[in-house]
Amino acid sequence: MTEIAALKAGLLADLDGADTPERVEELRVGALGKQGVITALLKTLGAMTPEERQVRGPAIHDLRQSLTDAIAAKKTAMEQAIMDARLATEKLDMTLPVDMAGQGSVHPVSQVMDELAEIFADMGFAVATGPEVEDDWRNFTALNIPETHPARAMHDTFYFPDQDAEGRAMLLRTHTSPVQVRTMTSQEPPIRIIAPGRVYRSDSDATHTPMFHQIEGLVIDKGIHLGHLKWTLETFLKAFFERDDIVLRLRPSYFPFTEPSVEVDVGYTLINGQRVIGGSGDDDNGGWLEVLGSGMVNRRVIEACGLDPDEWQGFAFGTGVDRLAMLKYGMNDLRAFFDGDLRWLRHYGFTALDIPTLSGGVGA
Ligand code: PHE
Repeated sequence: MTEIAALKAGLLADLDGADTPERVEELRVGALGKQGVITALLKTLGAMTPEERQVRGPAIHDLRQSLTDAIAAKKTAMEQAIMDARLATEKLDMTLPVDMAGQGSVHPVSQVMDELAEIFADMGFAVATGPEVEDDWRNFTALNIPETHPARAMHDTFYFPDQDAEGRAMLLRTHTSPVQVRTMTSQEPPIRIIAPGRVYRSDSDATHTPMFHQIEGLVIDKGIHLGHLKWTLETFLKAFFERDDIVLRLRPSYFPFTEPSVEVDVGYTLINGQRVIGGSGDDDNGGWLEVLGSGMVNRRVIEACGLDPDEWQGFAFGTGVDRLAMLKYGMNDLRAFFDGDLRWLRHYGFTALDIPTLSGGVGA
């Protein structure tokens, strides 16, 4: 056996006996590394006579190729063996319950806003937004609440000390109704939008917080009447409370921006002393809860927004998102919504798996 054949046999035997990836690497470096035996042999080629090189050259190259191939095959076999061992021992039980301990939750306000957007999307409403820092004209004047109007005092407004460039007083919007103005002045009717968002009033007790959430609805089209409003609210409330026995009571009311104005109550039934939405509030064990303000958009508002009120009519409604959440999910202190107490959130929050609750959609 030639010297090279003996070296080859020895190296391959060593490789065969290697039982860890580290040992294989060690052998590779020893043979093919900078100081390796095969590398050293390759270096001798330069000093050989052409005849000698013709004989030994192919043998040395063959040696290098054989060892390189053998190492690659060995590595692949070892990786496969390691994977086989893991597959044999590690098990993933897909039926185990998920550990939710470290998981965050969806705040009830976010959950309810998502539910509302989903319900109204089914009825063809887009979501519109407006800024929380609003001007006096959009929050009040354009909505038919002139400067001296008593309704301004009703809103306990937070004003900013400075006016905007056009000399309008700036404030934190007291309701989402300025989004009606923003929508009518920026897009062509027909309009069908909802506008959820934060609103601010200087007020604080168990049922009032200085910041709370409202959702506004606005429809502007031709030939819209109170019947459309009633159907829309009924469909929405049935879908939201996930009950078919929702009974509405429309009461005449007053808002400067709607005419006529309608306050909407829903019937509840007392079950074990709990008010459960559903049934007629006129039943012996029932009552009425006010849930919405609404009405036909006042023609003065349509005019102020640059539209012709003889051509375009519509309805609007507004309600408290926090209040809707309280009614649906049985929470009783509004302040807890904004305390950021993790215990409260863990109790009342929603996990991603709870959402959506309304997969059936409106009319399903
Ligand atoms: N903006 C009114 C409020 O904050 C609610 C409302 C909106 C009433 C739209 C009628 C129409 O109380």
